[in-house]
Amino acid sequence: MRVLLAGGAGYIGTHTAVSLLDAGHDVVLLDDLSGTHAVAAERVETITGRAAPLVVGNAADDAVVTAAFDEHGPFDAIIHFAAFKAVGESTQKPLEYYANNLDSTFALLRVGLERGIRSFVFSSTGTVYADPDDLPFTEESTTSVDLSNPYSKSKRMNEVILADVARVNPELNVTVLRYFNPVGAHRSGLIGEDPAGIPNNLMPFVSRVAIGSLERVGIFGDDYDTPDGTGLRDYIHVVDLADGHVAALQKAQPGYAVYNLGTGVPVSVLELVAAFEEAVGRELPKQVLARRPGDVAATYCDPGKARRELGWSTRLGIDDACRDYWHWQQSNPSGYAGA
Ligand code: UFG
Repeated sequence: MRVLLAGGAGYIGTHTAVSLLDAGHDVVLLDDLSGTHAVAAERVETITGRAAPLVVGNAADDAVVTAAFDEHGPFDAIIHFAAFKAVGESTQKPLEYYANNLDSTFALLRVGLERGIRSFVFSSTGTVYADPDDLPFTEESTTSVDLSNPYSKSKRMNEVILADVARVNPELNVTVLRYFNPVGAHRSGLIGEDPAGIPNNLMPFVSRVAIGSLERVGIFGDDYDTPDGTGLRDYIHVVDLADGHVAALQKAQPGYAVYNLGTGVPVSVLELVAAFEEAVGRELPKQVLARRPGDVAATYCDPGKARRELGWSTRLGIDDACRDYWHWQQSNPSGYAGA
């Protein structure tokens, strides 16, 4: 298959590009480089020994998408990773989040449908589930557009739009993948997560403490109703997550389908920090802080549907994720900017 990866030079996009190339597919990356660097695409080629052409441009612009098809098409499939993703920032910049995260879908679908794509895979999130007590989340769990932040709302809005588009395009395979918490990096240490500024998410924050660019890990609350009092999340190794996209493309059927991509295993903040300390080989400075507004005590999924229908399941655990993240961090102390 020939696949256009919108947002393909980002964290999940690059890992998916590697998985697709390793599985014998062809890829083209479309990315405006607002959250990553061109060198990320070169690293995909270094890892796989195959071409991963990069088109620099915004996936929300029909002319850019059209040019990508003209130059590198036809494509059998589009995978859409191109979105703003910072939950906190989205509450401050709702218009930017809605515009970017919806316009990209519109442009990719308009051009893709006109050019005869067969499959469209969309990066969604486990935060579309509305009832925090309905654990583990299955694809049947209640969703809502009435969520706590514009980022999550924009993702759920996309899902609703995609279901409508699938209904009137009966030949099209539309697959929505609801990610839980992606962590880790490719074991080569050549590609990984490269957040700008101070990271919001736990593993990149811990890793910056380990490399010495941040002082100590803040634990956001130890008084939750969980076994050790800290938040529980479903951390999925980004390589497993990437493989989920390959499985989704290979098994895609006409119509609209939704899959959770997670491990199904809840891991606490303290457990994750301990696993990272183990990978680093020393204890890290840490401090319990107040709860972070908007956080829930626990979120994890039932990944059974993806196992049954896509034949996909995770192979890596948090120890692998910490080892690989740390290897990436040590090999690239300033991320791609230092390359
Ligand atoms: N946490 C800390 N200290 C930190 C950062 C996080 O204690 O410095 C805690 C949080 O309170 C939470 C857990 O670590 O209990 C995980 O927090 P993250 O910020 O890493 O991840 P979230 O679960 O809040 O959200 C992430 C992404 C979202 C995505 C969601 C589900 O940020 O984009 O997973 O996919 F939608």
